[in-house]
Formats: sequence, C-alpha cells, structure tokens
Amino acid sequence: MDFRKAKYHMTDFSDALTFRSGVTVRNRLMMSPMTTVQSFWDGSLTRDEIDYYTERAEGLGAVITGAANVSDLGKGWNGELSIAHDSMIPGLSKLARGIQSQGAKAITQIFHAGRMTHSEVLRGHQIVSASDVAALRDDAETPRPLTVEEIHQIVADFGEATRRAIQAGFDGVELHGANTYLLQQFFSPHSNRRTDEYGNQSLENRSRFIFEVIDAVFAAVKKYATRPFLVGYRISPEEFETPGIRFADTLWLVRKLSETNLDYIHLSSNNYDRVARDPEYKEYPILHYVHEAVGSTPLVGVGGVRTRKDVEKVLEDTELVAVGQQLLYDPRWAVKLEKGLDDTMVTGSFKDLTEVSGFSHPLHDFQAGRFTDTVLS
Ligand SMILES: Cc1cc2nc3c(=O)[nH]c(=O)nc-3n(C[C@H](O)[C@H](O)[C@H](O)COP(=O)(O)O)c2cc1C
Repeated sequence: MDFRKAKYHMTDFSDALTFRSGVTVRNRLMMSPMTTVQSFWDGSLTRDEIDYYTERAEGLGAVITGAANVSDLGKGWNGELSIAHDSMIPGLSKLARGIQSQGAKAITQIFHAGRMTHSEVLRGHQIVSASDVAALRDDAETPRPLTVEEIHQIVADFGEATRRAIQAGFDGVELHGANTYLLQQFFSPHSNRRTDEYGNQSLENRSRFIFEVIDAVFAAVKKYATRPFLVGYRISPEEFETPGIRFADTLWLVRKLSETNLDYIHLSSNNYDRVARDPEYKEYPILHYVHEAVGSTPLVGVGGVRTRKDVEKVLEDTELVAVGQQLLYDPRWAVKLEKGLDDTMVTGSFKDLTEVSGFSHPLHDFQAGRFTDTVLS
C-alpha cells in the first residue's frame, strides 16, 4: 500500500495539536526561525525585535525565534540573539510574553555556530569546531578543535540556555541541528575528523554530541519546568561537501532522534518539494522519506510556502508547516489564511520585495546577501 495513504490522514492547518510534552498549539502553522539581525551588540533583545515577532504572531500556532547562541564563543553573526547569560532573561521574557499575547506558543531556537562565524564576531577569539577544517566558503577561517572538556561545557551550556528559556516563560526550545552549525558539524564527516569518542568515522560517535545535548536539555526541562515545555530539533537533509552527510545518514539520525522524547523534528529546506541528491531516494520529496523515518514524532516542513495550496501540499507529508519569508514580508499572512483573505496575500519575488521592504539595514543586507549567495552557489 502507498505509505502516504496508509500514514497520512489529511491534516487541516486549523487543527490543534498536543505534543508529547503536553504543549498544545492551536493550529499547524509556525513562524520559521529567522534571525532579525537586530539584537544589541551583546545579544540582548531590542524593542524592535519584540515588536517584530509580536506583529507576526497572530494566527500562528507557534513562533520560533531566530537562532540564539548558548555561549559567547557560539555567536555566529553580529545582531544575533543571545541566551548565554542570565542578564538576557528579562528581555527574553518580554519577547515570550509578546508572542503569547497573540495566542501563539513561544519557542526559542538555541544554537552554537561552531566554525560558521568569524574571529571578528568573537572579539578576536579563534573560532571553534569539532576539528580544524575550514568550511568551504571564501571567507572561512580555520577553527580550533574543541577539547573534550570544552565539549562537555557546551553540552552544559545548552542545558543552561534551556533553563533560561523556561525562566523567561517560553513554551519550548528548538535545538538548531541544521544549516551547518555546530550540532551538524559534529555529525558531518567533513567538519568532524576527530579520532576520539566524538568522531572516529562512526555515525554513533559523530552523533554522541547531539544526544548528550538532547539529554542535557531534557534534564533542564525536568528540573526547572513547572508547566509543559517542548523540545524540537531542526536538521538539514544532506551536505554538498565530500566527505559530507548523505541522505541515508540523515535518515539514520532521524530514526535515532525519534526514539527520544523530542516533541517534533523540523526539516530545514528552502523548498518543501525538494528531492534528495542521492539516486536511491528520488521517487518522493525528501519530506516524504523523513516522515516515514520519524515514526510517531511530529514532523515540521518548510521552504517556499506562500499560499494555501502550499500549506496543503506540505501537510500531505508533515504534521506542521513552518513559514519564513512570506511572514517576513506579509506579517498578517496567517490571519489572511485563517479568514480566507488569500487575495490580499503579498506576492512577488522575495528578491524584489527586499528592495522595497523598508527593513532595517542589517536585515535588508542579510536578506539581500542570501540571494547573492544562492545565485553564486
Ligand atoms: C532573514 C532570514 C533569517 C533566517 N534565520 C534563520 C535562523 O536563525 N535559524 C534557522 O534555522 N533558519 C533561519 N533561516 C531559514 C528559515 O527558517 C527557513 O528555513 C528558510 O527561509 C526557508 O523557508 P521560507 O521559504 O518559508 O523562507 C532564515 C531565513 C531568513 C530569510
């Protein structure tokens, strides 16, 4: 029998969902994590950011904030949110309340950038990663391999970041294991050439850091949460580098992740319909194979969602839909979808919209840079 038909009862975007943790979202729409590039120099929140998220939260089941670094050496870019110090809690709490005031659950994405940063962003400190292999990009610096002690410290930092998210009043955290940052760097045979228990060419060893982080995060939830608090995990499907993560490795990881208590797995992609590069997995879109692998863990799909039809297409293979750029340009998009005001949704290419968006300079330049990168790669 066709797996799609067997597993997939058609989900309507307006259906509520209660996760394993007990957190309930009122519908299946999430704001995809997008950095605003508007935090202060130390990563504390600006009023502009709180307004930005609050303005977009109405009509959504949940808002996932842009990536927040769990420690100072984990900062990826200037203007990024930080959750690395207790001094951030008052600002983070205003953000959580702003999002929740619109009826959406507030989730913060926590991460460590690893080698995907610059010493200039780290105030002169050398960048760090699993091994001393530079990323394949023009301006990449060579990282310093983390010691085992430092790895243990970063694991603990993820736990501490989770405690801060709980104390700030968030409903959950999403672990950013995608988009080539540190969690992915440990799993990748390109960035991880270690010969110890965190590497050594085996999938088990390369995923050790990931599962230690997950354990630390759940330990913090157990210790500090006084109400349901969810934990999601974001992954990328495959890498272009050789050696690199292949789609079969990702499916292996997804199966292992689905054996934990994670509330959801979020597949990062620029196109929800994307098909794997691996010739063995070309019959269906990536999302379909991942949906098969997640078992009963809800899956979040993302990438290029702009219309009702897109939402329906994604929900053929997932339980939830994340929306990024459409919400960036069309803050009331979810409300329009809910009310049937599809005709008023913002259309036009994101590249053109960026030029007339009126975004702050950092966000404008960040977004414009993404199109340049895409064109070049
Ligand atoms: C301005 C901008 C910032 C982003 N920042 C993050 C981020 O902090 N964390 C992350 O996981 N993905 C980030 N992304 C990727 C989005 O979450 C999303 O996966 C991607 O844009 C594809 O979805 P879309 O076509 O709906 O925009 C960002 C994307 C944009 C456009």
